[in-house]
Amino acid sequence: MTQTLTLRRPDDWHLHLRDGAMLAAVARHSAGFGRAIIMPNLVPPVVTGAQAAAYRDRIRAALPEDAALEPQMTLYLTDTTDPADVVAAFRAGIIRAVKLYPAGATTNSASGVTDFARVQPVLEAMAEAGVTLCVHGEVTAHEVDIFDREAVFIDTILDPLRRRTPGLRVVMEHITTREGVAYARSGGDDLAATITTHHLVINRNAILAGGIRPHYYCLPVAKREEHRLALREAATSGEGRFFLGTDSAPHADSAKLQPCGCAGCFTAPNTMSTLAQVFEDEGALDRLEAFTSLNGAAFYRLPPNEDRITLTRRDSPAEYPARIEAGGETVTVFDPGFPLYWHLEDK
Ligand code: DOR
Ligand code: ZN
Repeated sequence: MTQTLTLRRPDDWHLHLRDGAMLAAVARHSAGFGRAIIMPNLVPPVVTGAQAAAYRDRIRAALPEDAALEPQMTLYLTDTTDPADVVAAFRAGIIRAVKLYPAGATTNSASGVTDFARVQPVLEAMAEAGVTLCVHGEVTAHEVDIFDREAVFIDTILDPLRRRTPGLRVVMEHITTREGVAYARSGGDDLAATITTHHLVINRNAILAGGIRPHYYCLPVAKREEHRLALREAATSGEGRFFLGTDSAPHADSAKLQPCGCAGCFTAPNTMSTLAQVFEDEGALDRLEAFTSLNGAAFYRLPPNEDRITLTRRDSPAEYPARIEAGGETVTVFDPGFPLYWHLEDK
Protein backbone atom coordinates (compact mmCIF):
# COMPACT_ATOMS: atom_id res chain seq x y z
CA MET A 1 0.00 0.00 0.00
CA THR A 2 1.36 3.43 -0.84
CA GLN A 3 0.96 6.05 1.79
CA THR A 4 1.69 9.70 1.16
CA LEU A 5 2.59 12.46 3.50
CA THR A 6 2.40 16.11 2.50
CA LEU A 7 4.30 18.58 4.64
CA ARG A 8 5.09 22.23 4.53
CA ARG A 9 8.55 22.51 3.02
CA PRO A 10 11.05 21.72 5.80
CA ASP A 11 13.82 23.98 7.09
CA ASP A 12 17.23 22.91 8.35
CA TRP A 13 18.18 25.07 11.33
CA HIS A 14 21.81 23.85 11.49
CA LEU A 15 23.80 23.04 8.37
CA HIS A 16 27.42 22.96 7.22
CA LEU A 17 27.83 23.73 3.52
CA ARG A 18 31.59 24.47 3.56
CA ASP A 19 33.12 26.41 0.67
CA GLY A 20 34.81 25.93 -2.71
CA ALA A 21 34.66 22.45 -4.27
CA MET A 22 32.91 20.93 -1.26
CA LEU A 23 30.19 23.60 -1.33
CA ALA A 24 29.76 23.01 -5.06
CA ALA A 25 29.27 19.29 -4.43
CA VAL A 26 27.00 19.36 -1.38
CA ALA A 27 24.78 22.43 -1.91
CA ARG A 28 22.24 20.64 -4.10
CA HIS A 29 21.67 17.99 -1.43
CA SER A 30 20.15 20.65 0.83
CA ALA A 31 18.45 22.61 -1.97
CA GLY A 32 15.02 21.18 -1.16
CA PHE A 33 14.92 22.77 2.28
CA GLY A 34 13.23 26.14 2.45
CA ARG A 35 15.70 27.80 4.76
CA ALA A 36 18.88 26.64 6.44
CA ILE A 37 20.98 28.20 9.14
CA ILE A 38 24.48 28.09 7.71
CA MET A 39 27.33 27.41 10.09
CA PRO A 40 30.23 29.87 9.96
CA ASN A 41 33.10 27.50 10.82
CA LEU A 42 35.03 27.96 7.60
CA VAL A 43 38.78 28.38 7.58
CA PRO A 44 39.12 31.24 8.37
CA PRO A 45 35.72 31.57 10.08
CA VAL A 46 32.94 33.96 9.05
CA VAL A 47 33.29 36.70 11.64
CA THR A 48 31.97 39.90 10.08
CA GLY A 49 28.74 40.90 8.40
CA ALA A 50 30.63 41.58 5.17
CA GLN A 51 32.10 38.07 5.19
CA ALA A 52 28.66 36.57 5.86
CA ALA A 53 27.18 38.45 2.89
CA ALA A 54 30.00 37.28 0.62
CA TYR A 55 29.60 33.67 1.79
CA ARG A 56 25.83 33.86 1.25
CA ASP A 57 26.46 34.94 -2.33
CA ARG A 58 28.86 32.01 -2.90
CA ILE A 59 26.21 29.63 -1.56
CA ARG A 60 23.53 31.09 -3.82
CA ALA A 61 25.87 30.71 -6.79
CA ALA A 62 26.51 27.05 -5.89
CA LEU A 63 22.82 26.14 -5.63
CA PRO A 64 20.83 24.81 -8.59
CA GLU A 65 18.62 27.44 -10.24
CA ASP A 66 15.41 25.86 -9.00
CA ALA A 67 16.64 25.49 -5.40
CA ALA A 68 14.18 26.41 -2.70
CA LEU A 69 16.95 27.07 -0.21
CA GLU A 70 17.39 30.53 1.20
CA PRO A 71 20.60 30.53 3.26
CA GLN A 72 20.29 32.09 6.72
CA MET A 73 23.73 33.29 7.66
CA THR A 74 25.48 33.27 11.01
CA LEU A 75 28.54 34.93 12.47
CA TYR A 76 31.16 33.06 14.40
CA LEU A 77 31.46 34.56 17.86
CA THR A 78 35.04 35.29 18.92
CA ASP A 79 36.55 37.04 21.90
CA THR A 80 36.84 40.15 19.73
CA THR A 81 33.45 40.23 17.96
CA ASP A 82 32.18 43.79 17.58
CA PRO A 83 28.64 44.17 19.03
CA ALA A 84 27.84 46.97 16.57
CA ASP A 85 28.74 44.82 13.55
CA VAL A 86 26.51 41.99 14.80
CA VAL A 87 23.53 44.25 15.32
CA ALA A 88 24.06 46.05 12.00
CA ALA A 89 24.32 42.76 10.08
CA PHE A 90 21.17 41.50 11.78
CA ARG A 91 19.20 44.67 11.10
CA ALA A 92 20.35 44.64 7.47
CA GLY A 93 18.99 41.09 7.09
CA ILE A 94 22.44 39.63 6.42
CA ILE A 95 22.55 37.32 9.43
CA ARG A 96 19.92 35.35 11.27
CA ALA A 97 22.01 34.32 14.29
CA VAL A 98 25.41 34.16 15.94
CA LYS A 99 27.18 30.88 16.66
CA LEU A 100 29.03 30.20 19.87
CA TYR A 101 31.73 27.55 19.79
CA PRO A 102 33.75 27.19 22.96
CA ALA A 103 37.36 27.31 21.69
CA GLY A 104 38.55 23.86 20.68
CA ALA A 105 35.14 22.19 20.97
CA THR A 106 34.97 20.87 17.43
CA THR A 107 35.97 21.15 13.77
CA ASN A 108 37.50 24.57 13.02
CA SER A 109 36.61 25.98 16.43
CA ALA A 110 40.07 27.25 17.30
CA SER A 111 38.87 30.86 17.10
CA GLY A 112 35.97 30.23 19.45
CA VAL A 113 35.27 31.91 22.74
CA THR A 114 37.98 31.50 25.39
CA ASP A 115 36.76 34.12 27.85
CA PHE A 116 33.03 34.58 28.39
CA ALA A 117 33.51 37.90 30.17
CA ARG A 118 34.85 39.35 26.93
CA VAL A 119 31.78 38.44 24.91
CA GLN A 120 29.24 39.64 27.47
CA PRO A 121 28.79 43.05 25.73
CA VAL A 122 28.00 41.24 22.47
CA LEU A 123 25.50 38.95 24.20
CA GLU A 124 23.80 41.96 25.77
CA ALA A 125 23.58 43.76 22.45
CA MET A 126 22.11 40.59 20.91
CA ALA A 127 19.52 40.27 23.68
CA GLU A 128 18.53 43.87 23.13
CA ALA A 129 18.25 43.50 19.33
CA GLY A 130 16.63 40.05 19.38
CA VAL A 131 19.53 38.19 17.72
CA THR A 132 19.56 34.45 18.45
CA LEU A 133 22.64 32.78 19.92
CA CYS A 134 23.16 29.25 18.56
CA VAL A 135 25.25 27.34 21.05
CA HIS A 136 27.58 24.39 20.60
CA GLY A 137 27.09 23.11 24.13
CA GLU A 138 30.17 21.20 25.15
CA VAL A 139 32.91 22.13 27.58
CA THR A 140 36.38 21.59 26.23
CA ALA A 141 38.24 20.99 29.50
CA HIS A 142 40.56 18.10 29.03
CA GLU A 143 39.64 16.55 32.38
CA VAL A 144 35.91 16.32 31.57
CA ASP A 145 34.92 13.00 30.01
CA ILE A 146 33.72 13.48 26.45
CA PHE A 147 30.41 11.77 27.20
CA ASP A 148 29.76 14.29 30.03
CA ARG A 149 30.72 17.45 28.19
CA GLU A 150 27.20 18.50 27.25
CA ALA A 151 25.74 18.08 30.73
CA VAL A 152 28.69 19.90 32.33
CA PHE A 153 28.38 22.74 29.79
CA ILE A 154 24.73 23.24 30.67
CA ASP A 155 25.47 23.54 34.39
CA THR A 156 28.69 25.51 34.29
CA ILE A 157 28.41 27.69 31.19
CA LEU A 158 24.98 27.85 29.62
CA ASP A 159 22.80 28.30 32.66
CA PRO A 160 25.00 31.07 34.16
CA LEU A 161 25.25 32.75 30.73
CA ARG A 162 21.46 32.81 30.35
CA ARG A 163 20.94 34.07 33.88
CA ARG A 164 23.29 36.99 33.40
CA THR A 165 21.80 37.85 29.99
CA PRO A 166 18.04 38.10 30.40
CA GLY A 167 16.12 38.18 27.14
CA LEU A 168 18.84 36.47 25.10
CA ARG A 169 17.31 34.02 22.65
CA VAL A 170 19.25 30.78 22.71
CA VAL A 171 19.18 27.63 20.60
CA MET A 172 20.95 24.66 22.14
CA GLU A 173 22.36 23.12 18.98
CA HIS A 174 22.35 19.37 18.37
CA ILE A 175 21.43 18.24 21.86
CA THR A 176 22.48 14.66 22.56
CA THR A 177 21.45 13.92 26.14
CA ARG A 178 18.38 13.66 28.34
CA GLU A 179 19.95 16.49 30.38
CA GLY A 180 19.85 18.61 27.22
CA VAL A 181 16.19 17.76 26.67
CA ALA A 182 15.35 18.57 30.30
CA TYR A 183 17.21 21.87 30.25
CA ALA A 184 15.55 22.93 26.99
CA ARG A 185 12.21 22.21 28.63
CA SER A 186 13.11 24.29 31.67
CA GLY A 187 13.27 27.51 29.65
CA GLY A 188 10.65 29.92 28.43
CA ASP A 189 9.98 30.81 24.83
CA ASP A 190 13.47 32.29 24.54
CA LEU A 191 15.02 28.81 24.67
CA ALA A 192 14.89 26.03 22.07
CA ALA A 193 16.96 23.07 20.91
CA THR A 194 17.80 21.52 17.58
CA ILE A 195 18.09 17.77 17.18
CA THR A 196 19.97 16.10 14.34
CA THR A 197 18.78 13.23 12.21
CA HIS A 198 21.71 11.02 13.12
CA HIS A 199 21.33 11.43 16.88
CA LEU A 200 17.78 10.10 16.56
CA VAL A 201 19.18 7.00 14.85
CA ILE A 202 22.51 6.03 16.41
CA ASN A 203 23.86 5.58 19.88
CA ARG A 204 27.53 5.23 20.80
CA ASN A 205 27.55 1.53 19.97
CA ALA A 206 27.23 2.46 16.30
CA ILE A 207 30.65 4.13 16.52
CA LEU A 208 32.47 1.67 18.73
CA ALA A 209 30.92 -1.81 18.90
CA GLY A 210 32.35 -4.52 16.66
CA GLY A 211 34.94 -2.21 15.08
CA ILE A 212 35.42 1.53 14.91
CA ARG A 213 33.17 3.30 12.41
CA PRO A 214 34.45 6.81 11.73
CA HIS A 215 31.44 7.78 9.62
CA TYR A 216 29.30 7.73 12.76
CA TYR A 217 31.71 9.94 14.68
CA CYS A 218 30.48 13.48 15.14
CA LEU A 219 30.42 16.11 17.87
CA PRO A 220 28.74 16.10 20.25
CA VAL A 221 29.45 12.37 20.11
CA ALA A 222 26.44 10.04 20.19
CA LYS A 223 25.69 8.90 23.73
CA ARG A 224 24.06 5.90 25.44
CA GLU A 225 20.77 4.44 24.23
CA GLU A 226 18.78 6.10 27.04
CA HIS A 227 19.81 9.47 25.62
CA ARG A 228 18.84 8.55 22.07
CA LEU A 229 15.43 7.55 23.38
CA ALA A 230 15.09 10.88 25.20
CA LEU A 231 15.88 12.70 21.93
CA ARG A 232 13.32 10.65 20.02
CA GLU A 233 10.70 11.42 22.64
CA ALA A 234 11.50 15.15 22.44
CA ALA A 235 11.61 15.32 18.62
CA THR A 236 8.32 13.46 18.23
CA SER A 237 6.57 15.30 21.08
CA GLY A 238 5.40 18.11 18.82
CA GLU A 239 6.64 20.65 21.40
CA GLY A 240 7.58 23.92 19.78
CA ARG A 241 10.96 24.12 21.49
CA PHE A 242 12.37 21.16 19.53
CA PHE A 243 13.13 21.33 15.82
CA LEU A 244 15.35 19.93 13.09
CA GLY A 245 18.93 21.03 12.67
CA THR A 246 20.62 18.28 10.70
CA ASP A 247 24.20 19.34 11.43
CA SER A 248 24.93 17.67 8.11
CA ALA A 249 28.72 18.07 8.09
CA PRO A 250 30.54 16.73 5.03
CA HIS A 251 34.19 15.75 5.22
CA ALA A 252 36.27 14.01 2.57
CA ASP A 253 36.70 10.34 3.38
CA SER A 254 40.44 10.95 3.32
CA ALA A 255 39.97 13.28 6.32
CA LYS A 256 37.61 10.97 8.22
CA LEU A 257 39.56 7.76 7.71
CA GLN A 258 42.65 8.83 9.59
CA PRO A 259 44.33 7.99 12.89
CA CYS A 260 42.78 11.28 14.03
CA GLY A 261 39.65 11.59 11.89
CA CYS A 262 37.27 14.54 11.59
CA ALA A 263 33.88 14.73 13.31
CA GLY A 264 30.75 14.97 11.21
CA CYS A 265 27.97 12.95 9.57
CA PHE A 266 26.83 13.87 6.06
CA THR A 267 23.07 13.37 6.29
CA ALA A 268 21.76 15.91 3.78
CA PRO A 269 20.98 13.44 0.95
CA ASN A 270 18.66 11.15 2.95
CA THR A 271 17.57 13.18 5.96
CA MET A 272 13.86 13.49 5.17
CA SER A 273 13.47 9.81 4.31
CA THR A 274 15.28 8.84 7.52
CA LEU A 275 13.20 11.18 9.66
CA ALA A 276 9.95 9.90 8.19
CA GLN A 277 10.99 6.37 9.18
CA VAL A 278 11.92 7.49 12.71
CA PHE A 279 8.58 9.27 13.16
CA GLU A 280 6.70 6.31 11.73
CA ASP A 281 8.48 3.96 14.14
CA GLU A 282 7.48 6.27 17.01
CA GLY A 283 3.86 6.40 15.84
CA ALA A 284 4.26 10.14 15.32
CA LEU A 285 4.03 10.78 11.58
CA ASP A 286 1.43 13.42 12.35
CA ARG A 287 4.09 15.37 14.25
CA LEU A 288 6.86 15.24 11.63
CA GLU A 289 5.74 18.53 10.11
CA ALA A 290 5.97 20.34 13.45
CA PHE A 291 9.55 19.13 13.88
CA THR A 292 10.79 19.79 10.34
CA SER A 293 8.66 22.67 9.10
CA LEU A 294 6.85 24.64 11.80
CA ASN A 295 8.63 24.84 15.15
CA GLY A 296 11.92 26.30 13.98
CA ALA A 297 10.30 28.98 11.87
CA ALA A 298 8.12 29.96 14.81
CA PHE A 299 11.13 30.22 17.12
CA TYR A 300 12.95 32.41 14.61
CA ARG A 301 9.76 34.48 14.23
CA LEU A 302 9.39 33.61 10.56
CA PRO A 303 6.33 32.35 8.75
CA PRO A 304 6.34 28.67 7.78
CA ASN A 305 7.16 27.94 4.15
CA GLU A 306 4.10 28.26 1.93
CA ASP A 307 4.81 25.39 -0.43
CA ARG A 308 4.71 21.67 0.32
CA ILE A 309 6.79 18.54 -0.18
CA THR A 310 5.52 15.00 -0.55
CA LEU A 311 6.93 11.83 0.90
CA THR A 312 5.60 8.54 -0.41
CA ARG A 313 5.97 5.23 1.39
CA ARG A 314 6.69 2.54 -1.19
CA ASP A 315 7.43 -1.17 -0.97
CA SER A 316 10.91 -0.75 -2.37
CA PRO A 317 13.51 1.35 -0.54
CA ALA A 318 14.56 4.78 -1.76
CA GLU A 319 17.94 4.79 -3.41
CA TYR A 320 20.62 7.24 -2.46
CA PRO A 321 24.34 7.29 -3.21
CA ALA A 322 26.61 5.63 -0.65
CA ARG A 323 29.06 8.43 -1.36
CA ILE A 324 29.32 11.52 -3.49
CA GLU A 325 32.28 13.06 -5.24
CA ALA A 326 33.64 16.44 -4.18
CA GLY A 327 36.70 18.04 -5.71
CA GLY A 328 38.31 14.71 -6.59
CA GLU A 329 37.55 13.23 -3.15
CA THR A 330 34.65 11.11 -1.91
CA VAL A 331 32.26 11.99 0.90
CA THR A 332 30.35 9.14 2.51
CA VAL A 333 26.61 9.59 2.99
CA PHE A 334 25.13 8.69 6.37
CA ASP A 335 23.91 5.09 6.49
CA PRO A 336 20.98 4.90 8.91
CA GLY A 337 21.32 1.13 9.06
CA PHE A 338 17.79 0.44 7.83
CA PRO A 339 16.05 0.67 4.46
CA LEU A 340 14.35 3.97 3.65
CA TYR A 341 10.85 3.24 2.39
CA TRP A 342 9.83 6.91 2.45
CA HIS A 343 10.68 8.49 -0.89
CA LEU A 344 11.00 12.24 -1.17
CA GLU A 345 9.20 13.14 -4.38
CA ASP A 346 10.66 15.70 -6.74
CA LYS A 347 9.28 19.17 -6.47
O1 DOR B 1 30.42 16.63 14.07
C1 DOR B 1 30.54 17.83 13.90
N1 DOR B 1 31.01 18.34 12.74
N2 DOR B 1 30.22 18.67 14.90
C2 DOR B 1 30.46 19.97 14.81
O2 DOR B 1 30.15 20.66 15.75
C3 DOR B 1 31.14 20.55 13.65
C4 DOR B 1 30.94 19.73 12.46
C5 DOR B 1 31.87 20.10 11.34
O3 DOR B 1 31.99 21.27 11.02
O4 DOR B 1 32.45 19.18 10.75
ZN1 ZN C 1 27.45 21.78 13.41
